[in-house]
Amino acid sequence: MPRLEVRLLKGIEEFRQCEEIQRHVWGAPGATREVLIATQKCEGAVIGTLLNGKVVAFIYAFLGQYRGRWIHWSHQMAVEAEYRDQGFGLRMKRVHRRVALARGIKSICWTFDPLQSRNARLNIARLGAIPEEYIEDCYGRFPSVLERGLPSDRWVVNWKIATRRVEERLRGKNPAFDPALPRVNETRLTAQGFPENEKIHLALTGHRLLVETPGQTEAMRARALPLAERWRMEARRIFQHYLAKGYCVEDFFPPGPATEARCFYLLRRRA
Ligand SMILES: CC(C)(COP(=O)(O)OP(=O)(O)OC[C@H]1O[C@@H](n2cnc3c(N)ncnc32)[C@H](O)[C@@H]1OP(=O)(O)O)[C@@H](O)C(=O)NCCC(=O)NCCS
Repeated sequence: MPRLEVRLLKGIEEFRQCEEIQRHVWGAPGATREVLIATQKCEGAVIGTLLNGKVVAFIYAFLGQYRGRWIHWSHQMAVEAEYRDQGFGLRMKRVHRRVALARGIKSICWTFDPLQSRNARLNIARLGAIPEEYIEDCYGRFPSVLERGLPSDRWVVNWKIATRRVEERLRGKNPAFDPALPRVNETRLTAQGFPENEKIHLALTGHRLLVETPGQTEAMRARALPLAERWRMEARRIFQHYLAKGYCVEDFFPPGPATEARCFYLLRRRA
């Protein structure tokens, strides 16, 4: 039986293993062991998942301020590819929440790529984090295997860890998908099996709207990069347009029977 631990990391070797994971996931360590050690010392949080004593996933979050409040800014979270989709990301976020609440911190913020549906599923639907800003090309273009040189657009999400919304999401209470809601984009499948936008509607005014996004962004970036770039620019246009019109992101629905194997953001018009 493998021994699984999720906890704050300690000791140079555990931080070195976080550098290794960064190399595998992004090609180079953006947060070296020195940075991680210093972060752990000054009220940030470096949390890892250890399997039989080896770090296979980690979160790196530093203490900072966002919109005038003390927060943890979770700059990196990564799970080694062979351990994804086994709930390690969710477990680490739960531990991070407990650590932060014990220190009197009520928000954990981070950025993620709006077109990475796995991240959207975890961050918005499972955790209840709310996108508060859309940033164009946030970190510049990286050549990494995840980004493939595309503009690095990002949501900034605020995970308000002491709220009822978050408690409910962590208990698995999620609203159902409503396929009858108006759709901002109409898509069709390409010969390679990836969705592409056929029509985009920017004049909708309904209370709630659906925006479809691709479910297999990494495969699309590897096999159909021009289409992935089109998605980047079209999703940017859609989200920026509706955010400026007073909508916010309410939820995200991953591929499943209710969504006919497609992914959707749910936008809600603010009161
Ligand atoms: C993002 C990441 C940290 C998530 O970790 P993880 O351990 O795989 O996450 P979990 O298993 O807890 O949750 C993943 C969820 O996405 C779902 N999922 C998997 N593939 C999906 C897809 N193509 N579209 C939508 N959802 C998907 C999983 O089913 C799971 O949801 P469920 O628990 O409801 O079944 C990990 O995938 C990773 O390291 N990615 C590369 C680096 C990265 O993007 N880091 C974050 C930004 S810094």
